[in-house]
Amino acid sequence: MNIKWDANKYTADFSFVHQYGNSVIDLIDADKGSSVLDLGCGNGALTKALQDKGYLVKGLDASGDLLDIAKEKYPAIDFIQGDAADFTLPEPVDVVFSNAVFHWINKDRQQNMLKCVYNALKNNGQFVFEFGGHRNNQKIHRALASIFLEYGYCYEMPFYFPTIGEYAALLENTGFEVQYAVLFDRLTELKGDNGLKDWINMFIKTPFLVVKTEQEKEVIVDKAVEALRSDLFMNGKWYADYVRIRMKAVRL
Ligand code: BEZ
Repeated sequence: MNIKWDANKYTADFSFVHQYGNSVIDLIDADKGSSVLDLGCGNGALTKALQDKGYLVKGLDASGDLLDIAKEKYPAIDFIQGDAADFTLPEPVDVVFSNAVFHWINKDRQQNMLKCVYNALKNNGQFVFEFGGHRNNQKIHRALASIFLEYGYCYEMPFYFPTIGEYAALLENTGFEVQYAVLFDRLTELKGDNGLKDWINMFIKTPFLVVKTEQEKEVIVDKAVEALRSDLFMNGKWYADYVRIRMKAVRL
């Protein structure tokens, strides 16, 4: 999926995305000086965290706007623009790391993406990642789908949220050995009084392409937010019903 990011707002208001990523980094078992590719590095915050652990890092992302922020903040890091499902590296690396990226890649491109990762790794190289797993944001998507229907539209699910079984099969097909896998719920606090509305406006883009006017879009979003209030607004704060899939696989 090609998404045009509001890179500055993403960096300012959705920093929890990379803050949670720090615990994914802890799954890497590699010596200082090992080479690590941060696949879908975005604004580079986790690429920098990987560098701070002593790794020799590179970041790759499709978004020029996010890479501009990354390069400005961390000029000493090598950032490359590229497609996660269609890239090669000049030299293989010890580790490929990725946080909160693979749900953006269509199901039919996942196998290509995994082949690129496999080819980018040395033998025994580690592939460590987390992204949206099965049931991720299910309440939000169901609420939107139901309001879309009321307005005569079909809500096309824009993300890929697999089960562990489905993703492990793809990894094994590619030649990886899966060494760790977990799927867990992580209710995630959103920023501000309009946290859920801002989240929907930031991340849910393509389903709204069928909606005729901006005003109608706003009404649909407001109605979905109200429908979700009893489930996702608690003690004065908005939450998103995240589910994560976190895995470690090795290139044999
Ligand atoms: C996620 O990190 O799970 C996610 C974020 C935005 C949209 C969809 C999924």
